[in-house]
Amino acid sequence: MASRLRLLPCPPVTTPLWLNAQYGVFNIRRPFSTTLPQASGSTAFKVFREVPPLRTYRRSLLLSNRTVGLVPTMGALHDGHLSLVRMAAAENTDVIVTIYVNPTQFGVNEDLSSYPRTWDTDVAQLNALSRELEKEGKGKLSAVFAPTTPVMYPTLPPTSEIDGKGSFVTITPLAEKLEGASRPVFFRGVATVCMKLFNIVQPERVYFGQKDVQQTVVIRRMVKDFHLPMDVRIGSTRREEDGLALSSRNVYLGARRRAVSVVLSKALRAAEKQWKTGKVSRGDILWPANDIVNKMMQEQDELPASKRARFEVDYISLADPDSLEELEDVDPETGAILSGAIKMLRVEEPQAGEDCGLGGGTGTVRLIDNIILRPQDYAVDKP
Ligand code: PAJ
Repeated sequence: MASRLRLLPCPPVTTPLWLNAQYGVFNIRRPFSTTLPQASGSTAFKVFREVPPLRTYRRSLLLSNRTVGLVPTMGALHDGHLSLVRMAAAENTDVIVTIYVNPTQFGVNEDLSSYPRTWDTDVAQLNALSRELEKEGKGKLSAVFAPTTPVMYPTLPPTSEIDGKGSFVTITPLAEKLEGASRPVFFRGVATVCMKLFNIVQPERVYFGQKDVQQTVVIRRMVKDFHLPMDVRIGSTRREEDGLALSSRNVYLGARRRAVSVVLSKALRAAEKQWKTGKVSRGDILWPANDIVNKMMQEQDELPASKRARFEVDYISLADPDSLEELEDVDPETGAILSGAIKMLRVEEPQAGEDCGLGGGTGTVRLIDNIILRPQDYAVDKP
């Protein structure tokens, strides 16, 4: 047996075989430009790209009785992300932010290659926030972990194929519902990368935004089912003044689609009002939402192509907060998750000089939003 083993070709020890192929497979440039700082010199926090030095740092924090809050992100930071860092700093001595555009959560036809990568402005925002936190004297933003894909997927290349091979975390049936129905590999990718990040950083608390409500339900379930020793903390959704939820993808909208995109939050708000006035049945809660969406759709259809921004509705859902099963009636003691997804279609007949958003309006933009129907809000506005 031993001699047979010696005859086998020796695999490369340091470089995974797929390493050179991976960027070709996904047809993307390296996820971060050469401007990515290699050391912490220019930042108010440490920047790690590899696991071992981050582990050493984490251990030093543990030995000095410090607590770590982890905020996982894909970069292209906005106030929603920053609000999670603030929340983490209020509850821990140290905050670690991760910036990694995770390939396995993008479907094969999704926007992995064009997903906004804005390292320099991300660092600038985090530097400013870090100084702010220093002044406030609460927890501090201590480190950013910005790994490469070979670091995060050290053995097999990351795949977005449904039956692709690799080490994955699957949380079913939660991952198949709502977003998962249109994006079958999405939550497998999210759960897998979060499990990796949780194992690498070993935080006391992890921070997620309510904006991606199904993600919070999946992560909570993963933490519970795998007995992960950390608390899952959820920060509220940050919005533009007109109600549109902040999202890294909003840069794709452009002025025309931006104006119409508010339809989703308006629709959900109208349905929430029904809950607050004491309605519990699916029909009673959802009809105003469907009405707003249908009216806006019709309005856009009637406009000339050069002026309109058409959209499709993927779903408007009223679901149980734990199982995400659709509800016919909401129990006032448990409440529900009201959520929706719309697809803003490509900009028709773009006009000269028109702001059509990043990408020139040629792609569709999927938007999601939600409101939690909380037991304490039930019937509060009942006349
Ligand atoms: P990303 O879209 O960058 O979001 C990072 C975190 O910011 C998520 O927890 C998300 O819910 C939160 N967030 C986004 N928009 C928000 C808003 N308007 N208000 C409050 N919080 C908001 O979500 C991901 O990345 C990825 O799936 C990730 C968890 C990092 C795994 O790859």
